[in-house]
Amino acid sequence: MSAPTLEIHLSEDQMTEALRQDASAGLTATPKSLPPKWFYDARGSELFGAITELPEYYPTRTERELLRAKAAEIAKLSATQILVELGSGSSEKTMLLLDAMTAEGTLEQYVPQDVSPSALSGAIDQLRLDFPGLNVHGVVSDFTDTLHNLPSGGRRTIAFLGGTLGNLVPEERSEFLGSIAEVLDPGEHLLMGVGLVIDPAVLVPAYDDAAGVTAEFNRNVLHVLNKRLAADFEPERFEHIALWDEHSEWIEMRLEATSDMTVHVRDLDLTVSFAAGEQMRTEISAKFRLDGIADELRAAEFGIEHVWTDPEDRFALVLATRS
Ligand code: SAH
Ligand code: AVI
Repeated sequence: MSAPTLEIHLSEDQMTEALRQDASAGLTATPKSLPPKWFYDARGSELFGAITELPEYYPTRTERELLRAKAAEIAKLSATQILVELGSGSSEKTMLLLDAMTAEGTLEQYVPQDVSPSALSGAIDQLRLDFPGLNVHGVVSDFTDTLHNLPSGGRRTIAFLGGTLGNLVPEERSEFLGSIAEVLDPGEHLLMGVGLVIDPAVLVPAYDDAAGVTAEFNRNVLHVLNKRLAADFEPERFEHIALWDEHSEWIEMRLEATSDMTVHVRDLDLTVSFAAGEQMRTEISAKFRLDGIADELRAAEFGIEHVWTDPEDRFALVLATRS
């Protein structure tokens, strides 16, 4: 038995520098946009946790039920010795996999990885209680640039749950899947949870809930800019927008300026103007079709080992094998 460890690959200073770059590019572009990874400071991670409990937000509970039903099968098929999870957040659903992989008798190590130190340390505290005998090694890093630090010495499965693949734009997605294929050996696995294309009447409210939690999560990126870069956004003067783009088959979250505004980002020495009604993209959440995801995986040198879907075909777990 060993105490869980936490490795920081992304220091606070490096995170601020990365935000400086993203903010100066995104706030000076036309149209303006910001990448979704900046939602997740401690408050953003908490707000995401609250989203997962909303009646409208079906993805988490659907994936949890799928995992509850299929974790034993996944554990058998993958014979995982080292489970690496990208964007692991609270690791709450993953515990179903950890239970099954422990029961299968193969699991030796769990490596949760996330850009949010608060989410990761909360998860590690819980894992210490629930899996006292498990070797847990948390890593704070950006999954788009530090996959080369993957542990070795056992058969690995990389898990990427929750539908987070959909938060990458298509070019980022193929690069990301390619970089996962590069670090895995033939026969090792990728387990992904992806949201499926469903009726917009169900999809849109999941991203625009009645209680306004997703709106607050969306505006949190402005709080992050205020804190990290000494900006003076007034988040309440931006309205939350969630649109279904039926051509791209993604939900797009935006923030709309409710009046003309001038914002100063002191640490960038940047003044940004917003016209009333101007919208800034803050996230896409792509939904997939089973054929499409299989094509994307094949293009990245993965074969599909098994796909499980829920009874309403809202969400899929895909177990892929590195060819
Ligand atoms: N997998 C969990 C959490 C999903 S929320 C679940 O299914 O519930 C998305 C998670 O990915 C957050 O914890 C966020 O901090 C993390 N994340 C977002 N962008 C990231 C990036 N570029 N690198 C690492 N983690 C990222
Ligand atoms: C983390 N990710 C998969 C969530 C999603 O559904 O795209 C983030 C989120 N955005 C709004 N609500 C939840």
